[in-house]
Amino acid sequence: MQLGEMGKRMEKSKRTHFAGELRAVHAGQDCRLFGWVHRRRDLGNLIFIDLRDRSGIVQVVFNKELQPEAHAAAEQLRSEFVVAVEGEIALRARPNPELPSGEIEILARRVTLLNPAATPPFVVEDDTTATEETRLRYRYLDLRRPRLARNLALRHRVVFEMRRALDELGFYEIETPILTRSTPEGARDYLVPSRIHRGQFYALPQSPQLFKQILMMAGFERYFQIARCFRDEDFRADRQAEFTQLDLEMSFVCADDIFAVIERVVERACAAAGVAIRTPFRRMAYAEAVRRYGTDKPDLRFDMELRLVSDLFAPAREPLGMVGHVYALVAPGAASWSRRQLDELNEIARTAGARGAYTVKLTGQGVQSSLERLLGTEGVRALVAATGARAGDLIVAVGTEHEKKGLDAAAWAAGQVRLWLGEKLNLMDRRRWEFCWLTDFPLFEWSEAEQRWVSAQHPFTGIVEDDLDKLDDPARHGEIRSLGYDLVLNGVELGSGSVRIHRAEVQQRVFRALGLTKEQARRRFGFFLEALRYGTPPHGGIALGLDRFVMLLAGERSIRDVIAFPKTTAAQDLMAEAPAGATAAQLRELGFTAAQLKAWGWTDAQELRAAGYSDEELRAAGLL
Ligand code: AMO
Repeated sequence: MQLGEMGKRMEKSKRTHFAGELRAVHAGQDCRLFGWVHRRRDLGNLIFIDLRDRSGIVQVVFNKELQPEAHAAAEQLRSEFVVAVEGEIALRARPNPELPSGEIEILARRVTLLNPAATPPFVVEDDTTATEETRLRYRYLDLRRPRLARNLALRHRVVFEMRRALDELGFYEIETPILTRSTPEGARDYLVPSRIHRGQFYALPQSPQLFKQILMMAGFERYFQIARCFRDEDFRADRQAEFTQLDLEMSFVCADDIFAVIERVVERACAAAGVAIRTPFRRMAYAEAVRRYGTDKPDLRFDMELRLVSDLFAPAREPLGMVGHVYALVAPGAASWSRRQLDELNEIARTAGARGAYTVKLTGQGVQSSLERLLGTEGVRALVAATGARAGDLIVAVGTEHEKKGLDAAAWAAGQVRLWLGEKLNLMDRRRWEFCWLTDFPLFEWSEAEQRWVSAQHPFTGIVEDDLDKLDDPARHGEIRSLGYDLVLNGVELGSGSVRIHRAEVQQRVFRALGLTKEQARRRFGFFLEALRYGTPPHGGIALGLDRFVMLLAGERSIRDVIAFPKTTAAQDLMAEAPAGATAAQLRELGFTAAQLKAWGWTDAQELRAAGYSDEELRAAGLL
């Protein structure tokens, strides 16, 4: 099919409507639409195409008797061809309730091919069977799927509204560098070798933390940024190598002021997504969250609180080899679970670090439990009474064999079991938006891997004034309370922040407590420590994971579905094929030696010579 004269004219002419926005009120109007052939059905005298543009889909009808020329042209159309359609908007005899534009259809008078398309490797449909690998490789086709197009439109609205709300609240949007030096968020850095300064590296920012604090020192008082962050860590559904934060910082504030700003911004962003939420958000201390829900990011869309039953469990603890606390959960209606389901539950508990899941079934016939052997009938009855379980329920008790420094390991294991039960029993009300501020975090947590105390958040987190003395006593590091907080939504950590340390002397003591010598602290954060001395205002801030927020608003389970060009779990961009090799000439400029190139597989001396390596260098590398 040729690009006709009409086509050339039409390319310049204007569209009258967007396909997905057409409704019954438009019936009788003429229209000119542009878009892609989403689907084509040929019934002989009638051809139907679903025309798709970024707004959605509309049905177009080609009638052989009424418009033979248009009908003939439509015979040539295939999936993903780009077309212009002219015709009349008409009410449908049989509306399609599945389609927002389903009350009407377009009676085509003319169709013009603007560009044909190669046969796509998968059908552009929301219910695609294509693997994620194929979808990411052909991301431009994947993004044509209405669901992803909707997600990105939503993301735009959310970000736009956040910007507007923050502007109204007096914030400046200020960019901080991408080529910078290592920032301490605890992940591995992405490094970029410097050409001019051989052997030196820029680090891509894990967050704008140091720069935003310096902006407070510089006197800007209210800063925000839609900031790209880079962390070379292990990826999961809610983690990417490259992700975006709504990052902000304020001077002369306490946590309450920061909470109020975020609540306002989040409320506005949710409204832009059509979600009404209640503010202020509830608050919960870290210790309370762990005790009641076994996590610092409780999913509050369902109850099922942990019950501490260590005392009742006492006779069983030794035979079962349990240490620490024992917690019980009540799984409503799960008394009828089969052996297989209980085995699965047990496995989940074990994976979460528990000794196992010990159960009591409250069936219509009475109480059934293998624990009777250890606790006696009375003991099991006491457990039932303590948990408030009723007929039909299953009590699940969880304890651990190993203690962890500074952590209630049994509570954490029970928390995982709770989440699993919540999913399994479908207890989460998907329409609820349960925001919660988590406060009163410990400043340090024990790292098993490093066998030392590390920052629970980052080393700039402020400290409860009364606990400052404990900084100099390693035995008490686990007791120090921070001025940090997290924002949690439906069990997902949405954001994290704190009121900061603003006194150079306190900052020095924290570095010391973290095991950094004065010299190490100076080398890594010298500029920052220096800046702290020149009149730093009290300040604090927060960063929200924008990808996670939009993921939840869009009802998606992976942040990859709300990022235009995400990376795989192996940190690859399959479409652009990144990361990719470099040329020998580039590597030479960056100071890589011929021996290094040889180790990476360069063996062709000619090629390396052409890249500028001398014969001497090639000889030294054993390439000549
Ligand atoms: P934190 O490291 O907790 O804090 O990050 C803040 C929020 O960013 C999101 N997030 C991620 N999202 C996607 N992929 C990742 N790899 C990823 N890592 C983190 C989470 C998280 O809650 N500078 C501090 C903030 C501050 O103190 O102001 C910081 O970056 O939703």
